[in-house]
Amino acid sequence: AAPGAEVPVPQARAAAASGASRVLNIWYGSETGNARRVAEALAEDARGKGLSVKLASLADVRPQQIRKQELLTLVVSTHGEGDPPEDAEDFHEFLLSDKAPKLSDLQYAVFALGDSSYEHFCQTGRDFDAALEKLGAKRVLDRVDADVDFENAARQWREQALERFSELAGGEPAEAAPSHLQLVGEAKAPSRWTREEPFEAEVLASHPLTVAPSGKSVHHIELSIEDSGIQYQAGDSVGIWADNDPALVEEVLAATGLDGSQAIEYEGQTRSLRDWLGRHRELTQLSRPFLEQYAELAQADALKAVLADATQLRDWIKDHQVIDVLRAWPTELDGRRLVSLLRGLTPRMYSIASSPADTPDEIHLTVATVGGETEQGLRVGTASWYLNRRIEAGDRVRLFVEENPRFRLPEDGQAPVIMIGPGTGVAPFRAFVTERRALGHDGSNWLFFGEQHRRTDFLYQLEWQRHLKSGALDKLSLAFSRDQAEKVYVQHRIRQQAAEFHQWLEAGAHIYVCGDANRMAPDVEAAIRDVLVAQGGLSEDAAGDYLKQLRREGRYQKDVY
Ligand code: 2AM
Repeated sequence: AAPGAEVPVPQARAAAASGASRVLNIWYGSETGNARRVAEALAEDARGKGLSVKLASLADVRPQQIRKQELLTLVVSTHGEGDPPEDAEDFHEFLLSDKAPKLSDLQYAVFALGDSSYEHFCQTGRDFDAALEKLGAKRVLDRVDADVDFENAARQWREQALERFSELAGGEPAEAAPSHLQLVGEAKAPSRWTREEPFEAEVLASHPLTVAPSGKSVHHIELSIEDSGIQYQAGDSVGIWADNDPALVEEVLAATGLDGSQAIEYEGQTRSLRDWLGRHRELTQLSRPFLEQYAELAQADALKAVLADATQLRDWIKDHQVIDVLRAWPTELDGRRLVSLLRGLTPRMYSIASSPADTPDEIHLTVATVGGETEQGLRVGTASWYLNRRIEAGDRVRLFVEENPRFRLPEDGQAPVIMIGPGTGVAPFRAFVTERRALGHDGSNWLFFGEQHRRTDFLYQLEWQRHLKSGALDKLSLAFSRDQAEKVYVQHRIRQQAAEFHQWLEAGAHIYVCGDANRMAPDVEAAIRDVLVAQGGLSEDAAGDYLKQLRREGRYQKDVY
């Protein structure tokens, strides 16, 4: 057609006649990134179907905005004792408060993620669902509470949500383009290696970082991603698909008296029982659903008693594995039943310890071995045992990279950076310091590191010393907790250097915390508050607001687990 000619476009006319389609909001609250990825996948599907989509982290929406929405899906995980992820805290508080508005025009669906070993499984998703219902919103799809092996549940929910919200969005959808075609030509094509289709990376090197008689066994592992097309950024994580130690599989077979070579069909897949147990089922971590079903099956009263007490159950789950249950309460069990009782094996996530600017073809990991050989047999963490004890240079490891957009170096190369990473929490900071040096970003860097003993557990000691010498690292504050009578932790070092810590903050420093989420991260946060009170003259409340503001500006980021 000639430029400017009026060409009737049937679809545009139809859309105008029926009114524009309504926006589908997809809001997520995510601590580790799983909820974010489910939300992103739904957004991509929905856009592919021509829906108008707004995808946002709950950290970036003002809670009051919900008042104006008509279609909303919430994807949210739960942490600790039923707590919302940090980016969903404000929204959670608002929605459950008496400030929350009537929402009779809202139609919604909730996808909840959690860990069924915990008492308050998927509590945040439940809270959202109940609050929205109470406020008069209309649930258009049953809430799904997904366990740590959430992939199948997420896929099914996405299909249902897409269908339901396509109907509700109304209007005439634009010509749907297959989503993979839409991605072609975008600036950053995603790597084709995914959780479902991992890359097989060659192991280049593996060596211990701790020395005898350390109480820990931490390894440095280097993997090759050459020719994979994988690109990553400092701060990203990598998912590792490990398999179970064959010795453990044999223990399970012996305990159940089952024949490992029998073929078992389950969920459309036929594999030998040995293969199911070795590569596809969780054999170490226990879950509440497994224990509940097993207790019923084996008529195990003692186990039922454990299940009845949530606190006892949590401790018990920490101290026991699947094999312990099978041995303590032997029962008639066929192979298919066993496979169906156990949850699917999931990849384990590690913070990447290497810098893409420095080593674009490699991914480095810092891995602490969990557990070991005991008198009862192997009692280990699946992936750390696999990485540290079972693979060697030349072997291949299945991996995929997961973006971690909430753990990023400042764009401003001049901005000061404070990194707090005791134990293996130091991994991403090895990436950060190396990255900044490689990029020529010469903002100041201050690292807080802690471990038990200087002599045996000083992870990457030589590298830090070299960085200090070259100026890539400006300050290193060390907390070796067991080298003296009283415990010294990173937060003690923060308090001891309160004045300087505060000066760095005032100079625009970005703070990063990586490592233990249960005790370390809250203790460190308390120390930072103390610094603000003591040095900034703020009240407790004002210090809390200051931290909130830092968080909003992306100047206080955590990667904790
Ligand atoms: P500990 O083992 O002597 O208790 C890495 O694990 C380091 O973190 C160790 O030195 C460990 O000390 C320490 N650590 C333990 N609990 C901590 C906490 N709540 N805050 C900060 N560091 C902690």
